[in-house]
Amino acid sequence: ERSEIGLIGLGTMGAALSLNIAEKGFRISVFNRTVSKVDTFLSDSGPLAKRISPTRSLEEFVTSLKVPRAIVLMVPAGDPVDAQIAALRPLLDPDDLIIDAGNANFHDTNRRAAQAVDDGVPYLGIGVSGGEDGARHGPSIMGGGDRAHWDRVAHILEAISARYEGQPCATWMGEGGAGHFVKTVHNGIEYADMQLIAETYGVMRDGMGMPAAACADVFASWNQGPLQSYLVEIAAEVSAATDPATGAPMLDVILDRAGQKGTGRWTVIESQQVGAPVPVIEAAVAARNLSAALETRRAGEALFGAASRRLPDAALSLDDLEAAMIAGKVMCYAQGFDLLARTGTQYGWTLPMPEIAEVWREGCIIRSAMLNDMAGALRTDPDRNLLFAPYFADLVSRHHTALRKVAATAATHGLPVPALSAALGYFDSIRTARSTANMIQAQRDFFGAHGFERIDAEGQHHGPWGGGG
Ligand code: 6PG
Repeated sequence: ERSEIGLIGLGTMGAALSLNIAEKGFRISVFNRTVSKVDTFLSDSGPLAKRISPTRSLEEFVTSLKVPRAIVLMVPAGDPVDAQIAALRPLLDPDDLIIDAGNANFHDTNRRAAQAVDDGVPYLGIGVSGGEDGARHGPSIMGGGDRAHWDRVAHILEAISARYEGQPCATWMGEGGAGHFVKTVHNGIEYADMQLIAETYGVMRDGMGMPAAACADVFASWNQGPLQSYLVEIAAEVSAATDPATGAPMLDVILDRAGQKGTGRWTVIESQQVGAPVPVIEAAVAARNLSAALETRRAGEALFGAASRRLPDAALSLDDLEAAMIAGKVMCYAQGFDLLARTGTQYGWTLPMPEIAEVWREGCIIRSAMLNDMAGALRTDPDRNLLFAPYFADLVSRHHTALRKVAATAATHGLPVPALSAALGYFDSIRTARSTANMIQAQRDFFGAHGFERIDAEGQHHGPWGGGG
């Protein structure tokens, strides 16, 4: 019996996705370059093995599929995807569909999709979020490419995706790299959400002297309120865990050097390309880079001395911290959605703003209670910055004082909170009708005769400084 769909790349995510597909009743063929992985995978797949066709060569893989074929690639992003496409193409028929489900750079997906159009062969790039567990039991799927090609496999992608109140979290976002772009911004927000959590953990650990287990209780209680989210939930879990080897809290034995595969950086690069201000995400990416510079930080502490970091009793309450997180989180999402709104037009996409918030409500890493309210706000007005939607304007109005208190107190005692501070800077900037950019304009005109607008007259003007350089 031929398979409905095929998957190449049985790494953690590919294996989990294959099992998910088989479990939902679809026969699936699998292939992996290191062929031994195919056998291990099959023997580990239990009763689902009956719906899995293992194949040991690309030719065998291709002939095992129903035509027109649908082939999912779950190989590392970058060159391996191009290599896999090049190896497959000669074996495929004109209608066969390749679906890149990895964390591709959306510029690569745009290029591959354009090439696919030239070659007259179907191609989709889909962003898949939710880690291994999501892939296995229901990820959030952000699709990109030709709509007709998406429709061909939508029944499978919807069947395997997470569900929010029965609605599948699998949505077509637009042509070409639109799906991978939305996934990239998802990851940028993921970086920022994680950094905000790490900063509040730092205030509790270093500022309040709380052991990891006490932090776990705080995160667990936050997870019952407006911050209810997967990332806060797992912050509680990792804080509560102990190291089997030493019995110490697990967090205390983990080196403070964060990894990254690039999606956060791509988000920031894109924000710069389109001029979308995303300072909370920028701070999060910078913080990961700084974390990686462990030797420099050690030398810095030796040279400048460690700040006290310890807060006086009652300088901050846990409620202050929670409120600051709420305000910071709204700021970070407002920035992410603003970037999405601005970038769409740049690439000829009309990104479905409310649907993006909806597809993130379940399955993905940044799933959270707030996303449902964001979906509602974006449905009312997809072009409005989320901060200005009444629900979030009210939320921020009630919590920005705490954000200021936390950022200021942390600054006074030398606790680094770059993402919370960036959120505060963004908020204060966005509510300053008369900024200081008049100074920038004056200097630009002074040294480069760039001209400026006046507050009291139309047109371009120059200052009385003699025309500049
Ligand atoms: C997801 C995650 C997933 C992966 C990232 C982590 O949505 O499921 O974002 O894609 O965990 O690659 O990214 P970093 O390695 O860059 O932290």
